[in-house]
Amino acid sequence: MSKTQNHQKVILVGDGAVGSSYAYAMALQGIGESFGIVDVVKERTEGDALDLIDATGFNQPKNIYAADYSDCADADLVVITAGAPQKPGETRLDLVNKNLRILSTIVKPVVDSGFDGIFLVAANPVDILTYATWKFSGFPKHKVIGSGPSLDTARLRVALADLTGIKDPKSMHAYILGEHGDSEFAAYSAATIGGRPFLAWAEEHGVTKEQLDKIEDDVRHKAYEIINRKGATFYGVAAALARISKAILRDENTVLPVSAYMEGQYGLNDIYIGTPGVVNGEGLKEIIEVPLNEEEQAKMTKSGETLKKVLNDGLK
Ligand code: LAC
Repeated sequence: MSKTQNHQKVILVGDGAVGSSYAYAMALQGIGESFGIVDVVKERTEGDALDLIDATGFNQPKNIYAADYSDCADADLVVITAGAPQKPGETRLDLVNKNLRILSTIVKPVVDSGFDGIFLVAANPVDILTYATWKFSGFPKHKVIGSGPSLDTARLRVALADLTGIKDPKSMHAYILGEHGDSEFAAYSAATIGGRPFLAWAEEHGVTKEQLDKIEDDVRHKAYEIINRKGATFYGVAAALARISKAILRDENTVLPVSAYMEGQYGLNDIYIGTPGVVNGEGLKEIIEVPLNEEEQAKMTKSGETLKKVLNDGLK
């Protein structure tokens, strides 16, 4: 299905730090045509809409407004950022109970509005909440996507670009896979630079396993470093959400790292977990299963088991 520019209607649910940063990213990048904001604090959405419209004055006009769930009826995309953020010392999985409760109050009114577009979920723990959105909504799995490892993969690519001196992160075809959380890992064995295996390049250039392990660990802990200093993360994930939104709204059919529903890929079933996938106007067109070496497959299996346990404890 191809979308023309003026049928790109987005509803954001959750106008906190992540949601408003996402709204700002969408406004500055001119992504989408109509942007409604839903939040329990209505006055905040009204103020943010007025403020964001000012920002579009330097870009291109856009219909930004304080929305209600009824506005989801003809939306192409509903983005859910509503949820409690991690506090210093908290893991993303620690948020599961309170954010499942919040999510359960969101998905039903969206579906009841007659919405039949794509759900994009960012609230944490995002793999669990994406699964829950799929369950609560009754939507086909390809129409429910999580931001998953999109931010982690960007963090990895920035670090590898710095390490290699090939300064463009987009030249680093490397992915973080698995849970968006403490069990995520870098699929180095499948990474390439200009089609050349990254590990071959690394060996030729004297890059050690210790250096790569440290980069993977730094990526895994980046959010904690930010939260410990400023109390939350929001710009990185907002940019990731804007990138995925663009691929959906412009029907790009591009490969992006997202949280997707597993049906045997990586030996995993009935969970959402981070993997590359083809994203377009219909949602997730297909999963691109990354070939993993034995060590990486073991990490993916462990990550899947971690999520499955939380799902069984919290949702089933
Ligand atoms: C982070 C949050 C979005 O990784 O989980 O910054």
